[in-house]
Amino acid sequence: MRRPVIAGNWKMHKTQAETRAFFEEFKPLVSASRHCDIIVAPPFTAIAAAVDAAKGTLISIAGQDGCWERAGAFTGEISMPMLIEAGCQSVIIGHSERRKYFGETDAIVNRKLKAAIEAGLQPIVCVGEDQSERDAGHTEQLIERQFNDGMATLTGPDFSRILVAYEPVWAIGTGRTATPEIAAEVHAFLRRLAAKRFTPGLAASARILYGGSVKPDNIRGLMAQEEIDGALVGGASLDARSFSAIVNF
Ligand code: 13P
Repeated sequence: MRRPVIAGNWKMHKTQAETRAFFEEFKPLVSASRHCDIIVAPPFTAIAAAVDAAKGTLISIAGQDGCWERAGAFTGEISMPMLIEAGCQSVIIGHSERRKYFGETDAIVNRKLKAAIEAGLQPIVCVGEDQSERDAGHTEQLIERQFNDGMATLTGPDFSRILVAYEPVWAIGTGRTATPEIAAEVHAFLRRLAAKRFTPGLAASARILYGGSVKPDNIRGLMAQEEIDGALVGGASLDARSFSAIVNF
């Protein structure tokens, strides 16, 4: 039995004051929710406020990105050990927005995965095709490349620390969710890739999240799929009521 994970990716939203206000409202709504891991990924500047607000709860805090180097002359970057020190337990790596707007390649994703694991963070690694790749019938080819190149040189024990998120780019922020069946199909494909690259046992216990227009009204259908172990939620995680409704699917 894989434990569900519901994670919120706030992207470039919320000040520290807005973060504190969110947690005031959110905490009582999920105080009895022990059926899943709850993760919130605020922007870097609100991490400390989120960690402080989440103290004494089961909610854990994630970074939205982190550098592959531990320290050095990398203006504007935040290292994985810095995220740990700030109180994060996990970090999102290779989100499609990072790939699209900031030129992240699978090789960079691989270096970041290694840095995160070495620092003791749980990586949430994102993969997913865009509309033209899906239309061209290249979804599996693309996912296979992102998975294998991202995981290059990682060991089985490394992989056991990782959460995989399938986020079809055409479903992000568009209101067009993948149907539970489409998502489950790609999740099953990812599990086969994991079995081939690592072991069938590790593949069977890997937690694979779906992301892309997850809302309170579609989470149940998604979670009803055996292959779907949780959700990575963007827009709907910004509101305490809608995010708690997703957590309490
Ligand atoms: P939306 O839920 O806003 O579509 O965003 C999904 C996402 O990118 C989460 O990382």
